[in-house]
Amino acid sequence: MYRFTLPRDLYHGKGAIDALKTFKGKRAIVCVGGGSMKRFGFLDRICNNLKEAGMEVELFEGIEPDPSVETVMKGAEAMLRFQPDWIVAVGGGSPIDAAKAMWIKYEYPETTFEQMCVVFGIPELRNKAHFCAISSTSGTATEVTAFSIITDYAKGIKYPIADFQITPDVAIVDPDLAETMPQKLVAHTGMDAITHAVEAYVSTAHTDYTDPLALHAIKMIQRDLVKSYNGDMECRASMHNAQCLAGMAFSNALLGIVHSMAHKTGAAFADFGAHIIHGAANAMYLPKVIAFNAKNPEALKRYGEIADFMHLGGSNDEEKVRLLTAYLRKMNDDLRIPHCIKNYGADSYPCENGFVPENVFLERLPEIAKNAILDACTGSNPRQPNQEEMERLLKCCYYDTEVDF
Ligand SMILES: NC(=O)c1ccc[n+]([C@@H]2O[C@H](COP(=O)([O-])OP(=O)(O)OC[C@H]3O[C@@H](n4cnc5c(N)ncnc54)[C@H](O)[C@@H]3O)[C@@H](O)[C@H]2O)c1
Ligand SMILES: [Zn+2]
Repeated sequence: MYRFTLPRDLYHGKGAIDALKTFKGKRAIVCVGGGSMKRFGFLDRICNNLKEAGMEVELFEGIEPDPSVETVMKGAEAMLRFQPDWIVAVGGGSPIDAAKAMWIKYEYPETTFEQMCVVFGIPELRNKAHFCAISSTSGTATEVTAFSIITDYAKGIKYPIADFQITPDVAIVDPDLAETMPQKLVAHTGMDAITHAVEAYVSTAHTDYTDPLALHAIKMIQRDLVKSYNGDMECRASMHNAQCLAGMAFSNALLGIVHSMAHKTGAAFADFGAHIIHGAANAMYLPKVIAFNAKNPEALKRYGEIADFMHLGGSNDEEKVRLLTAYLRKMNDDLRIPHCIKNYGADSYPCENGFVPENVFLERLPEIAKNAILDACTGSNPRQPNQEEMERLLKCCYYDTEVDF
């Protein structure tokens, strides 16, 4: 038996945030990040809409990018004090993910972070509050997914919380919010979205319900991402929908080891002054993982189908895979994303000597590989890597060398 779960309602298109005026409830807590939503006037509009719906509104502000366990615990305390019946999370993946985890802790104050991380182990939510997610970036699709990614900075590890319980009740996909994204954010979140769609399509948990969502998302991203990056606002609006479709696919089909590796490398070098931004990590690792997975005959066939759907040409599946990885690498170039960790600069742009020193990478490699294998996204990858293979794969992602194993 399979399960396919999405939010009960999805409001999309320009002006969709005005749907909040029709919500029914007493108290709404609005969870938001560092300031972009306030600066561009969206936060005021959201709060006013909720007030117009007759609700008392409280803000929980300042949720940082790649949110920490500590932030989750602080937000849950604010919720326990205010007792909201609506949690409205607005922003990129970070504030929405943090709010999802706060929601669990609000409903079950005794729950520890370790308990939250038990895959599909979240008890019944919605006894205290419903959840609405309003996305302002075009990548994570957390507004429709059963996932939340929280970073344990003490361990330098990102943990996915995964359960259909945390799939929001309402998603709002309003392209106005995506218009203010800076170019770099468009690039990173867009490559995150195509990675979601590709991983969902080849996942061992894919179904007839998820495949069309993944393929259509890939087609839209192929058509619109680079143009959106270069300032075309119609393509920017289309990307906001495309990433959401990719999210509907992967929330139900799960992901693969591109994400396992991105989760486990993202914060692993934070002590060297930077993160490997989630979308950029995916963009660098995806072509490598495709080459690795393509040794599995079923995955090879399905990558070939993706290449066909993108009209990339090629006369057999091996050639199609090469054309697909070449296409993705060209997208990285067009979006100024490096091809490997060695060339990943502290500002996320390609550079000769990146912020992760070779000796540090090699020293931490066995631990990172071990953690990546244990990541919740590994189970649905079409080919299961052992420790040695994962280390070799990560090395290819560091040096940009060919995957021939
Ligand atoms: N839950 C999921 O299913 C899922 C999937 C993939 C990734 N993630 C996680 O999501 C996080 C990344 O989220 P993200 O890529 O959306 O970025 P983000 O939420 O971390 O935001 C990045 C920066 O962009 C700014 N920003 C956001 N929207 C903006 C806008 N419209 N205009 C101007 N600035 C804006 C923010 O203030 C922040 O400084 C990571 O922690 C990642 O691991 C979650
Ligand atoms: Zn992702």
